[in-house]
This record gives sequence, C-alpha cells and structure tokens, in this order.
Amino acid sequence: PRVGVLISGRGSNMMSLIEAAAAPDFPAEIGCVISNRPDAHGVVRAQAANIPTRIVDHKAYEDRSSFDAALDEALTEEQIDVVCLAGFMRLLTRALVMKWTGRMINIHPALLPSFKGLNTHERALAEGVKIHGCTVHFVTPEMDVGPILIQAAVPVLEDDTPGSLGARVLEQEHLVYPQALRMVCEGRARLENGRVVIDGFE
Ligand code: GRF
Repeated sequence: PRVGVLISGRGSNMMSLIEAAAAPDFPAEIGCVISNRPDAHGVVRAQAANIPTRIVDHKAYEDRSSFDAALDEALTEEQIDVVCLAGFMRLLTRALVMKWTGRMINIHPALLPSFKGLNTHERALAEGVKIHGCTVHFVTPEMDVGPILIQAAVPVLEDDTPGSLGARVLEQEHLVYPQALRMVCEGRARLENGRVVIDGFE
C-alpha cells in the first residue's frame, strides 16, 4: 500500500514512519506527506528525505467540508491507500473519516481513553498519574476515541516536567507508530465491526 502522512508541525513521527518504510521488508511506502501549514518544519524534513509533499492550507478554504474535500482529492491524486495522522492539528469531518474508516490511523500522546485532546503531559502531571504513554488508534469521527491498535507506557518520575515526560513518551511514539502501520499494511490488524482484530493476538 501507499501511505499518506498528514502533518501540521515538526514531523518527528512522520520521520519515524519515513525511516521505518525505507527498510526493504517494510510492507508499505510513504507516497506523500500533506501539511495544512505551509511553514511546518516537517515539510522540509520530508523533502530532504525525497518524499513528495503537498500543502493543503486550511486557511484557503471556506469551511471544513471544502478543506476536507481538497485533502481527499490530494490523497486520491497521490493514490494513497492508508492515511497516518502525525501531529495533524485539524479536526476532520465525519464524511472524510467515514470514507477512510479502517484505513486512517492516528497517534495520540497519552494512554487513551485518558487525556484526550491537547496538553496531555501537563494534565497527566496535574492528575498525578504514575504511568503515562501513547496510543495508536484507528480514526473515527469523534476525536481521540477510535479503536486502539497499540499503546506504550512510560513511568512518570518524581521530578518530571511536561517537557521531560513528553520526551519520554515521544521516544515510544517513534517506536509504536511504525509498528502499528506495519500491522495495518500487512493486514494483520484490521477494523471489524468497530473493533480492532489483530491476528495471533489472544
Ligand atoms: C506528537 O506528540 C503526537 O502524538 C501528537 O502530536 C505530536 C506531533 O509531534 N499527535 P511530531 O510533529 O510528530 O514531532
């Protein structure tokens, strides 16, 4: 399959996917990176890695539907089969998400269903949780709610700041996102009747 990566910013998860996909045995290729922000640092990094990039600037569209239609058109033109959201900071319409059901995944920097939304590391520290982490999930119309593919946990340490905790989580993000993409592209992980089915997982 051909994978499209949607970004809005620094693109470190995008790079982990690009690097993983460069391995000869990886079951997919990164066909294109799309950013909604022209100045996203990830765009420069993708170009340096020789991945085709496109800008679909949300500010150029009247509403979410027309922005999503432009995104979908770009994905179709690039013959994308699977979409990875990697720090993509726009909410997608129900219509687009439904069209890509089972073929669109996201990474979230918390152990869902805890800490949906933004500022997850600050909130984890404020709650005093002792274990935090990240989640890769299939995208469904409601934000940060989709069926879970993989999670990784990290300890929260006594003297953690949002920055130190976030860095520990990010390291795990870079490991699990390529793993999840591999499972989906090999067909070993699928969405069936709204649930994740993973071959060989009892
Ligand atoms: C990551 O923490 C990811 O989990 C979240 O946004 C951040 C993006 O970072 N969705 P990067 O652009 O991949 O470096």
